Amino acid sequence: MDCSPHTNKMISLQFSISLCLYLILIQQMVAQKTLSKIDTTNCGKTKGCFRSPGVCKEDKCNFILTWKMDPSQKTVDFEFSARTDHSTPWIALGFSSDTMMAETSVTDCIVNASASNTVVVQSSYNPGYYNKVLSPDSKLGLVTDRSEGAFVNGSLFCRFTRLVELPKPNPSVANLSNPYYLFLGQGPATENGVKLQHSITPITSPRKVSASEIVDIHDGSLVVYHASLMTVAWMLVSSVGVMFSRHYKNVWGLKLCDKKIWFQIHTVAMAVTFLLSIAGAVVVFLDLSASPLVQQNLHPIMGMIVLCLMTLNIILGIFRPSSVSGRRQLFNWAHSLIGNGTHIIAAVTMYFGICALSGRMHVLPWLKWVMVAYIVWRIGIDLVMTVEKYYHREDLRVAYVEMSGTADDIVIESKTLFFKKAILAIYLFVIAGFTVSVLYGIVLPFFN
Ligand SMILES: *[C@@H]1O[C@H](CO)[C@@H](O)[C@H](O)[C@H]1NC(C)=O
Ligand SMILES: *[C@@H]1O[C@H](CO)[C@@H](O)[C@H](O)[C@H]1NC(C)=O
Ligand SMILES: *[C@@H]1O[C@H](CO)[C@@H](O)[C@H](O)[C@H]1NC(C)=O
Repeated sequence: MDCSPHTNKMISLQFSISLCLYLILIQQMVAQKTLSKIDTTNCGKTKGCFRSPGVCKEDKCNFILTWKMDPSQKTVDFEFSARTDHSTPWIALGFSSDTMMAETSVTDCIVNASASNTVVVQSSYNPGYYNKVLSPDSKLGLVTDRSEGAFVNGSLFCRFTRLVELPKPNPSVANLSNPYYLFLGQGPATENGVKLQHSITPITSPRKVSASEIVDIHDGSLVVYHASLMTVAWMLVSSVGVMFSRHYKNVWGLKLCDKKIWFQIHTVAMAVTFLLSIAGAVVVFLDLSASPLVQQNLHPIMGMIVLCLMTLNIILGIFRPSSVSGRRQLFNWAHSLIGNGTHIIAAVTMYFGICALSGRMHVLPWLKWVMVAYIVWRIGIDLVMTVEKYYHREDLRVAYVEMSGTADDIVIESKTLFFKKAILAIYLFVIAGFTVSVLYGIVLPFFN
């Protein structure tokens, strides 16, 4: 037999190499397993899911949580993943008996940069509007050998198993026999895996869910209906109505059903704006998940001011004094001031609304700039038309004298007519473009 030391060395070298290869392979398999995608096809069929926004697939979701109860073991398996912009992020799942952050039992998944980006799974609690890691046992309620996680390509994924209930009741660890509102949050962590304040408003399930439920819930569709209705109402329809009454009274002399065209367009546009706004307000009041979005945001209060002013102005318009009444001038002035003011406040309200939405979706940052551009465009066109009116006030005065009617009855006959019609066409085209961009930006993230 050839048993020279040389051959032995060869064999042990071969052995070491294959052992190394096997270890690498096993390590790869473990890594692969950790990174396995969350399967959304079984949401609502074999497991519960809560995703945002809309019915997204894992790599398009800002958040996705799945759960499956194992009644024999009295445990619940969770899978949890979120997209994040932070270099060392945390994500957290909260169980709360109301939609407030305080008194919430939390499970955290935190990237620990000083331990080569391993994911720490731990239990914590919000006694008030802050969070504390449970001590002395930060793993309380968790089945520790079944926790794992990975942070790859801007997505933090983790999987953990929770006991349904502790042997002894503990207010800091949710008793999963009961239904809760689910909170999903994320934020940055320190190099050592300590959570810092969340960066975006946590999202809340639209209703209480229990761990034994096999449902597929998602957030925000009502908020999207609200935003779409309000965008069409205030960016498109009311922009048309306000423009006609403010600058186009004297452009067309035609009458429609015994009233001037501008008046008919204005009335219909404002009525449609009113109906869409009421629908939009009703929709958002139905959506509980919207309330945490707008904490410390001026959007809801400004929205209510807009609704009140609009209602007031419509009542004023319906009970307007006759065109020969002495109070008509005062009415014109008040109606126009309230109308234009409301329109501008509505634009700012929409801007705050988009800020609140991007707090949840952290997508499409350009939407805010579309709103800013729209406000600038709206005010710019108004200035142009006001300057135009000033320059051609003589035309109007001449026509007024010739026809000796009231100013509203006069149709100006001048070269400026072409200019005004051209401006109107461009204005409507650009406003429609803004509306379509905002609708695209709001609706798109919910359907991919
Ligand atoms: C990382 O993300 C990019 C863009 O989203 C994608 O093209 C790429 O395939 C991802 N890589 C991995 C390893 O998932
Ligand atoms: C958990 O809740 C269930 C149902 O309300 C209750 O029967 C059980 O005693 C609770 N367990 C603990 C440990 O509090
Ligand atoms: C992160 O890793 C460091 C180094 O291994 C360790 O000291 C620290 O406790 C870890 N942080 C957490 C939250 O586990």
